[in-house]
Amino acid sequence: MSVARLRSLRSVALRTPNVSEAAEFYREVWGLSEVEGDNGVSWLRGAGAEHHILEVRRAERNALGKIAFSVGSPAEVDDAARALAELGVPLVAEPGRLDQAGGGYGLRFADPEGRLVELSTEVEAVVPMEPQGRRAAPRKLAHVVLNTVDIDAAVAFYRNVLGMRVSDWSEHQMAFLRCNADHHVIAFNQAEWTSVNHVAYEMPSIDHFMRGVGHLRHQGVTPLWGPGRHGPGNNTFSYFADPAGLVCEYTSEVEQVQEDAWLCRVWRRVPELSDLWGTAGPPSKDVRSHMAGVPDPGRWWER
Ligand SMILES: [Fe+2]
Repeated sequence: MSVARLRSLRSVALRTPNVSEAAEFYREVWGLSEVEGDNGVSWLRGAGAEHHILEVRRAERNALGKIAFSVGSPAEVDDAARALAELGVPLVAEPGRLDQAGGGYGLRFADPEGRLVELSTEVEAVVPMEPQGRRAAPRKLAHVVLNTVDIDAAVAFYRNVLGMRVSDWSEHQMAFLRCNADHHVIAFNQAEWTSVNHVAYEMPSIDHFMRGVGHLRHQGVTPLWGPGRHGPGNNTFSYFADPAGLVCEYTSEVEQVQEDAWLCRVWRRVPELSDLWGTAGPPSKDVRSHMAGVPDPGRWWER
């Protein structure tokens, strides 16, 4: 039995040395809007109702700050705290009002590789934005891909503790996990060290997706990889590097999973399956080195 029923991937926090430069990129180029900003931290929203989908916070090196999932009610947060205690997973923050932009009620704990996970509810919503002219803005967070040194342990924790389901494998190299109808909200990639591989933002349509790619091109930002369409998840992809060197992705048309009918598959890692259109080619050395990032020991709140 998992500790909670996750409804969605709410937001991700990234830690990086130059917050103002990164925030400017996500605001002026990427299509997010700042909801709150403070000295050394910026909270950014997409066009959807989520208060913020990205938090950028100052740190000495690039690292993951937090992954936040939504749950249904404060009672579910309290139940999760009890269940985590029974499983011997210590809390980093006890259930309570969250002292952060958007507020809410939640708790925090660490996964086995020291990533901070937050379960929250009753976070302030924002008014969804109507598409402004031809400007393409991400609607919500689509997924976060995490590099792990032990993919089986990572998958086991997110399945057993957080109740996520494995939608597909890409050989024994990547595992795609879901918590709702979206094919994946988290994926793990077997790697030499723990780090953020990339963060993906969902465009409302494939037309918005391509317009977003075009908008970036006009700003002098060209894809590291893409555009293309992946086999697992059937989603479109275009990967870019932000000023900190972290990889961000535009995606659209993520496969919708019918819970009782879905069969998990193991995809072979061949070009015709990772790039269905044949437009992107294999990932370059450059994109792979950006996706590997720098080793992230996690547990930053203890330092
Ligand atoms: Fe992705």
